[in-house]
Amino acid sequence: MFWLFALPFLASWVHVGGLSPGLKAQVNQKGLEYGREFGLRMVKSMLKNDTIPDIHGAHDAPLLGKVQFSVTGIQINELQLDDSIISFAKGLGVNLTVQNGGVLLNANWKLRTLFGPDGGTVDITVSALSLSAVLGISKDVKGRPVVWAARCRAGIGDLRVKFHGGNSWFYNRFTSVLEVILQAKLNKQLCFEIKKGTDDFARVLRAMNVSVQINSFAELDYSLVNKPFFGANRCQVDFKGEFFSPGQPRINVFTPSSFLLPKQPDSMLLLGISEFFANSAALLYFRTGALQRNITDEMIPKGFPIRLNTENMGMVIPELEKKFPDMPLEVQVGARKQPEFSFHPDGVHMKIFGSVEVSVILPNASLAPAFLLNIDGNFTGQFFLEPVSSGISIGKLLGTVALKHFQVSQGWSNVGHIEMKFLENALTVAVQVGLLSINKHLKKGIVLPNIHNVSLVNPQIAMYQGLMLVATDLHYQPPAAVLSL
Ligand SMILES: *[C@@H]1O[C@H](CO)[C@@H](O)[C@H](O)[C@H]1NC(C)=O
Ligand SMILES: *[C@@H]1O[C@H](CO)[C@@H](O)[C@H](O)[C@H]1NC(C)=O
Ligand SMILES: *[C@@H]1O[C@H](CO)[C@@H](O)[C@H](O)[C@H]1NC(C)=O
Ligand SMILES: *[C@@H]1O[C@H](CO)[C@@H](O)[C@H](O)[C@H]1NC(C)=O
Ligand SMILES: *[C@@H]1O[C@H](CO)[C@@H](O)[C@H](O)[C@H]1NC(C)=O
Ligand SMILES: *[C@@H]1O[C@H](CO)[C@@H](O)[C@H](O)[C@H]1NC(C)=O
Ligand SMILES: *[C@@H]1O[C@H](CO)[C@@H](O)[C@H](O)[C@H]1NC(C)=O
Repeated sequence: MFWLFALPFLASWVHVGGLSPGLKAQVNQKGLEYGREFGLRMVKSMLKNDTIPDIHGAHDAPLLGKVQFSVTGIQINELQLDDSIISFAKGLGVNLTVQNGGVLLNANWKLRTLFGPDGGTVDITVSALSLSAVLGISKDVKGRPVVWAARCRAGIGDLRVKFHGGNSWFYNRFTSVLEVILQAKLNKQLCFEIKKGTDDFARVLRAMNVSVQINSFAELDYSLVNKPFFGANRCQVDFKGEFFSPGQPRINVFTPSSFLLPKQPDSMLLLGISEFFANSAALLYFRTGALQRNITDEMIPKGFPIRLNTENMGMVIPELEKKFPDMPLEVQVGARKQPEFSFHPDGVHMKIFGSVEVSVILPNASLAPAFLLNIDGNFTGQFFLEPVSSGISIGKLLGTVALKHFQVSQGWSNVGHIEMKFLENALTVAVQVGLLSINKHLKKGIVLPNIHNVSLVNPQIAMYQGLMLVATDLHYQPPAAVLSL
């Protein structure tokens, strides 16, 4: 749950000496105001769930003599904090100001006077509550966010007490004494409670993971690389944004370069994705062998003109059929090195460096290597985001991918001369067929997983040199339990 609260609050530091991030997020005032709802909910649940200390005392009262009293089981029944302002506290964190807040508390009371013990319940109505708190936000050495109550001022303008039960009709005549004591106690207690709640939150953050497992071989490091930056009307957070293999030493082949987010009108959230982020994923997928595929004839669509057997290939490589008449082939497709992604105003460019090794499947099922081709291709892609109304997904990714350039060259051959032109044409057709199916998939859209019941509103992807920018508003559907607070 943390990052949802934290995102509006966190920011990054773009300055000389700062480390370069793979991902950069920016939240503006509009996003922060949306985050105010969470902030208030958090304050409410903090106050509501906190056991407020019991109050014990003694007082000399007219007619009653020395009165010993106790107020126990104090509970907040209603909390009114609607008149509140949230803003960024420059260079520090987030500033929450509440005016004209109201609280309705219930408690049990007990009295001991000259005339013996008495007891019942009591309603305490607090009004004209004002609160001004600054939540400081930074990062620790491990890149986890750190929060603290940087500033707090709180006060109660008015407090009324009404007793029920026992001889209430009598005590209600003398409530003003108690009201003064309670108001003073609460005025002292409020900021202490805020600080305690913030400390609890800080403890949760200290235990948080700054990486998330994507699948069995990929984990994403999203630790903060710089101290969050808080401006007057926006905050920025720099995340590492690097993929790595769980439990394996990191391989730092690329270095992320520093980047600035372009000015964007008024989306709540801007997410800057660097080439480093994409290439770090590509490198991991390459290293773990996820980009290797073995293809046999059964996997080729029916009706495709070229079949994977030596007879079919005999037209191009006569020697192949002569050496291995009427035998099936296996094709091992793989990457020679990791694909390279780059971001440009016209879209995502991807370079693949592939190899195709063709082997004959011998009758005893072992493979006889026949030849190897090197295949280099350049692709471009355009991507879009679409909102999804059902709660099962944050949104949908759509797009198109096109082949720009394609080049085949011979690596080695155990079967003599290979007619390259024909193979190149055949492979181009194969790639186009592959692209058709990829584009069909991308046209329908890839449903992105739901993250904490947040969905994208008016999401947009804009491409810049070296940067993919996602600009979006967010909508959060809280679970029923939080709504009831
Ligand atoms: C509030 O406190 C109760 C018991 O003291 C506990 O069961 C409940 O989980 C707490 N709720 C939250 C939101 O912390
Ligand atoms: C916090 O907000 C209040 C009200 O908008 C403002 O008066 C105060 O100066 C702010 N404090 C900081 C530290 O930004
Ligand atoms: C953090 O990650 C470790 C290992 O991946 C896991 O055992 C632990 O439960 C995670 N902690 C939290 C708070 O998610
Ligand atoms: C492909 O086949 C080769 C040789 O049979 C084998 O070593 C390799 O593990 C296979 N690769 C995949 C991804 O199945
Ligand atoms: C399979 O047959 C080929 C030739 O027919 C032979 O060279 C090879 O050793 C055999 N492999 C196995 C595992 O029997
Ligand atoms: C891919 O594009 C780059 C320039 O962007 C060019 O240098 C390279 O030759 C191209 N490769 C192929 C296989 O088209
Ligand atoms: C998401 O919404 C569902 C349905 O309202 C709720 O059961 C679930 O707890 C929510 N999850 C989070 C993380 O808010």
